[in-house]
Amino acid sequence: MAAKLVSSWYKEVECLPESYILPPEERPGDRPVPVSNQIPVVDLEAPDSAQLIVDACQEFGFFQVTNHGVGEELMEDGMKVFEEFFGMSKEEEGVVCNLYSDTPTTEPCVVSTSSGNNVKSEKVHFWRDVLRHSCHPLHQYLPFWPHKPHRYREVVGECSVEVRKLGFRILEKISQGLGLSSGYLEEFSKFMYLQVNHYPPCPDPTLSLGVYKHVDPTILTILRQDSYGLQVFKDAHWIGVQPIPNAFVVNVGHQLQIISNGKLKSAEHRAVTNSVKARTSGAFFLHPDVDTIIEPAKALVDAANPALYRSFPSYEFVKRYSANRGDVEETIKAFQL
Ligand code: SIN
Ligand code: FE2
Repeated sequence: MAAKLVSSWYKEVECLPESYILPPEERPGDRPVPVSNQIPVVDLEAPDSAQLIVDACQEFGFFQVTNHGVGEELMEDGMKVFEEFFGMSKEEEGVVCNLYSDTPTTEPCVVSTSSGNNVKSEKVHFWRDVLRHSCHPLHQYLPFWPHKPHRYREVVGECSVEVRKLGFRILEKISQGLGLSSGYLEEFSKFMYLQVNHYPPCPDPTLSLGVYKHVDPTILTILRQDSYGLQVFKDAHWIGVQPIPNAFVVNVGHQLQIISNGKLKSAEHRAVTNSVKARTSGAFFLHPDVDTIIEPAKALVDAANPALYRSFPSYEFVKRYSANRGDVEETIKAFQL
């Protein structure tokens, strides 16, 4: 089945179309990865939270954060609005966004259906729908956002502002934990965009994925999820990330791994589907402006710890990442010294 721009497209599908069947070595298989509590949970108000965050970022590249100051009701409202968006008919979705796209794009608002990142060139599709738009500076991008559901701009706008503040608090703790000057990492996170993922119930979750194994090209990713599906790759095994009510899952993006001179790890992860219930997640990406020069922080480089990466403008990383479709090994070759 060709990918169709219809939000309820999957309801017509009884068995998994061939274009979604992964090669055997990439399939999740019929032994599901159990939910686990291995990924550290950090109380942001705890006195030692900076150290706990850095420890988690070194070992797992992931942690969950609680007591984070972002309103619970606000985020629940945000998740509700995301679900309402993907519950709309194709006609409604079509008119509320400025465009549909099946290719990666720099357009300010994009909806793509049944895809990873590029429906046209990818060999196998992924079992998800995506809504992606920039969210900072908010006033600049708000006019491009969906105007339906009618509360979308108001609620998601507020979520974006709050999550950005949280992101900066976390980056400040990471700067502190790594021994960088105050505000150091904030300078690399001037841009923010949101990707809302909707994974419909899948006819065969053993043969397909919601999203393939990848690292994030960002500085920091802050994700809200409504149910299980996210898995992190560590020591050649998958760890199932336990959904915790009102927590955010936070992970190190690859450009932060480079700035930390490899001290922090940007871990590979993927999303699996299930046959019973749709899953929705909202990922807020803190990202450098395109021209920002990325390089290992000078404070983390000395004779005993030589720079592992060269300097480059952020857009070069994104370009290579997109060309290599998220394959970290291929992407990183161009930046390693
Ligand atoms: C992603 O990493 O692209 C999505 C993760 C998720 O939906 O949990
Ligand atoms: Fe990701």
